[in-house]
Amino acid sequence: MFYTVIGTQWGDEGKGKIVDWLSSKADIVVRFQGGNNAGHTLKIKENIFKLNLLPSGIIRGKKCIIGNGVVLDPWALDEEIQKLQNQGILINSKNLAIAENICLILPLHKILDEINEISRGEHNLGTTKKGIGPAYEDKIGRRSIRLCDLSDKSLLRKKISNLYSFHKVRLDYFNKKNNQNDLINKLLEVYKKISQYSSPTWRILNEYGKNNKKILFEGAQGALLDVDFGTYPFVTSSNTSSGQIFAGTGFGIKNNHQIFGITKAYTTRVGAGPFPSELFDEIGDYLGKKGQEFGTVTKRKRRCGWFDANLVKQTVIISGVNNIVLTKLDVLDDLNEIKICVGYNIGGKKYDYLPFNENLQNLVEPIYVTMPGWQSTTFGITKWSDLPVNAQNYIKYIEEVVQIKISIISTGPERNETIDRNNILSDI
Ligand code: IMP
Repeated sequence: MFYTVIGTQWGDEGKGKIVDWLSSKADIVVRFQGGNNAGHTLKIKENIFKLNLLPSGIIRGKKCIIGNGVVLDPWALDEEIQKLQNQGILINSKNLAIAENICLILPLHKILDEINEISRGEHNLGTTKKGIGPAYEDKIGRRSIRLCDLSDKSLLRKKISNLYSFHKVRLDYFNKKNNQNDLINKLLEVYKKISQYSSPTWRILNEYGKNNKKILFEGAQGALLDVDFGTYPFVTSSNTSSGQIFAGTGFGIKNNHQIFGITKAYTTRVGAGPFPSELFDEIGDYLGKKGQEFGTVTKRKRRCGWFDANLVKQTVIISGVNNIVLTKLDVLDDLNEIKICVGYNIGGKKYDYLPFNENLQNLVEPIYVTMPGWQSTTFGITKWSDLPVNAQNYIKYIEEVVQIKISIISTGPERNETIDRNNILSDI
């Protein structure tokens, strides 16, 4: 059986806990998109582990793969490995493999990320400035340096020279110096430390698949940041929907797949872009404070709003989600009334999806259904029948609009603070 965890909103849905739970049962854990723009925090007993690039299974001693769909900052990887090793986590070529055809994020990409944001002026996207977008641009532009290129100095020299010639005009315009020799030396230096992980990971993964091993694909960000299906251009530069699993790893087995859509009981987003159910009042502030909505990577304050069932319905369909895991329900505990966005009114016309046209997106007026709050604590509840009736009704109503079962409800950060309605997690 193969398992995938993706976020169904704009990221930060609380994937960490479920990913950790599933990775403790998996034989192998795989990242298939994004880069170190992701931030996963795992709390295991008294220890806090912060991961950006490495799959969460690494903390559990599981075999982990960073697939070719990821963009890799080799220095960020080296730093992350060192930090975890200092915390007592064993990382070596036995439990970590990185796709040899993975494209690299170079210092140049971080500079370009910065320049791109400046060039966009007031229309900037609010990127994480980790170089993600420019690295993917070079990948699609067929100019990337890939991990396997680092084993051949003369090839590397040629490719770096090509890359710099391509970007020269902009770098010169912004007066950014570059020293190609210095970069080559630094790349060769870091390669000495990470070359042990470089492998044809697609082969390893398909072998695990063929032998019916439990494979966990760990998504980063959220489906509404997908470069095709998200709120473009206010998206990340990778496909965050589940379809990316196959292109981002080379895994070719399409059956026996269980896709978990991690979904926050309200909505948040970091960075710019449309957010139909955003709240600008004291309730928005309240959700931000109670939900501790600050970015793990950039520390930015997250924008907060009501649950948008219309959008989640869309991402659930696109990613073929089988089970929703609802997180942070307890953040809503004190509210008197709770709204759910069930559709949009755009220029007098009703929409049961978000159209791609940006002008239409800017005119969206959310249509809300208001439900009574439950004003009692749901924190730590483990049984459906112990949830306040109004909380049950809230969840049932979301199920009705999104047209999918919410099988798992997370009621706190600890593993036992979970309602597993059909014993899905416990049976894996
Ligand atoms: P980039 O991925 O750095 O290019 O940023 C593009 C957009 O995606 C920005 O709005 C970021 O705030 C957002 N973003 C990127 N990674 C994450 C994440 O892990 N969680 C939430 N938002 C993210």
